[in-house]
Amino acid sequence: MSEANRSDFLVIGSGIAGLTFALKAAEYGDVIILCKKEMAEGSTNYAQGGIASVLSEEDSYELHIRDTLEAGGGLCKEEVVRILVENGPARIRELMAWGVNFTFRRTGSDIAHLDLGKEGGHSKRRIVHADDLTGREVERALLELVRSRGNIEICEHHIAIDLITRGKLDKKVQLGGEEDLCLGAYALDCTTGEVKTFLGKITLLSTGGAGKVYLYTSNPDIATGDGVAMAYRAGARVGNLEFIQFHPTCLYHPEAKSFLISEAVRGEGGILRLRDGTPFMERYHPRGCLAPRDVVAQAIDSEMKKRGDDFVYLDVTHLGRERIQERFPNIYQQCISFGHDIAEEPIPVVPAAHYLCGGVITDTYGRTNIDRLYACGEVACTGVHGANRLASNSLLEALVFSHRACQRTREEIHCRPVWETREIPRWDIGNAVDSDESVVVAHNWDEIRRTMWNYVGIVRSNKRLNRARRRIEILQEEIRDYYWDFLVTSDLVELRNIATVAELIIRSAILRQESRGLHYNLDYPSRDDVHWLKDTVLQVS
Ligand code: FAD
Ligand code: SIN
Repeated sequence: MSEANRSDFLVIGSGIAGLTFALKAAEYGDVIILCKKEMAEGSTNYAQGGIASVLSEEDSYELHIRDTLEAGGGLCKEEVVRILVENGPARIRELMAWGVNFTFRRTGSDIAHLDLGKEGGHSKRRIVHADDLTGREVERALLELVRSRGNIEICEHHIAIDLITRGKLDKKVQLGGEEDLCLGAYALDCTTGEVKTFLGKITLLSTGGAGKVYLYTSNPDIATGDGVAMAYRAGARVGNLEFIQFHPTCLYHPEAKSFLISEAVRGEGGILRLRDGTPFMERYHPRGCLAPRDVVAQAIDSEMKKRGDDFVYLDVTHLGRERIQERFPNIYQQCISFGHDIAEEPIPVVPAAHYLCGGVITDTYGRTNIDRLYACGEVACTGVHGANRLASNSLLEALVFSHRACQRTREEIHCRPVWETREIPRWDIGNAVDSDESVVVAHNWDEIRRTMWNYVGIVRSNKRLNRARRRIEILQEEIRDYYWDFLVTSDLVELRNIATVAELIIRSAILRQESRGLHYNLDYPSRDDVHWLKDTVLQVS
């Protein structure tokens, strides 16, 4: 069995948050990055619309702040939103200096300007993008730089299983209490099956979101909420997990598992229509198709239910083939590959789970309540998004707060690490044997995701939430048994995590009661601001 791997910075996750942090941290110490698949495989790589930031003279910080607060339904922390917005332009310039090629547009005077897109909920054009493949371009540039740094070690196909904390090793220290400390993580090397110990003076969780907790999602397969589940088990405080954002427009197609039709398509004039061709968004919001995405997702959901339809249409035929191909080359091509020529016919679309607005609670430097454990990106709950994230604020949040986290952590790596004075136990495999129960694991996965889609989706009720809670509890008991009996596999690690995150979402939704924006609870139709304005915070007891 191998020795523990030691580093100054242990980064779990290689999306925009993890890579940005790693690049900056490598200036102060050595870095190990763990990622459970290939480096580029994460939500970042699939981001389409772009990154919101105030970059034109017609725009202002105050307007971006106002739009963000408005989307967040009164639950955003204004001082954190201000940090996000005011630090945005510097982070965009940094990305450009790092080699990210955003799309430019020539104006009449022949000067090239950043081409700023518009999306739902934004009062101005402020979305920088690289055609409709922004995430892929950002990930490409960051990966290139990370690979060129001699003191960053990359461990692909290593799935972190659990965090190692002093509280867990030493029962005298309260889990997640003031004196608790993170020492690193155990991770399964998926190519050899060995569970290894990774120790870091600082550990950063940058594991992304949890869309795979739902049956239908825009997210890639890695999005199983591992960071939230690991942090919760370690005693970290998690918050506002009931706020799952449903993206209004994913392609409706039996084979297009999770293909997103960017909100930027509506920003450029795309029109939502019923199946008989009637536009309907004007009935729901003064901004019509460019209403905040929660309003659009609910409107679509309600129209589909009213009519018994499986989808609505998003129509861009009036933009013309040339403009569509120029502005949305990837969406155009992908739809062609699924048999839809979107220049000729409207696109069938449905809402799907898209973004986790809550997460591991952090301060404005990415710090959690466990010393030396930081969280950035979609896994974190900084207070920026409140009850609903404004489109294209997510990549920006990851950039701004991973930069700030690095500023803070570099002061902390000069401490004497705990492992110099005490032994850190290896992962205990107990009596586990090789499992031949992979079918059961797959069924449990499916059951959790269906339960969440059917009972904890856009429309909720106390009865549905409690039914979901009971089912998830039964599944969790079964999963606990597998952990004792079977050798750990990546499927099992993820299954345990989606079950934990499902439980946390349901418990948070039950605590919240009245639900606004992203979803609603039929049993709490009236507004209750006193109750509403409280955060839902959960911590292992
Ligand atoms: P990710 O990019 O998801 O990376 C997570 C990393 O964690 C991966 O490397 C993964 O392997 C690793 N990981 C996870 N669990 C483990 C584990 N247990 N052990 C080891 N490694 C682990 N936002 C915008 O602002 N603008 C957009 O235009 C936009 N478009 C989007 C389009 C799509 C289709 C999707 C799905 C999301 C979009 N978003 C957009 C949201 C945004 O892309 C994500 O919120 C953001 O990229 C998250 O970045 P991240 O670094 O936190 O995580
Ligand atoms: C999109 O392009 O519609 C996604 C934007 C986002 O999630 O912020």
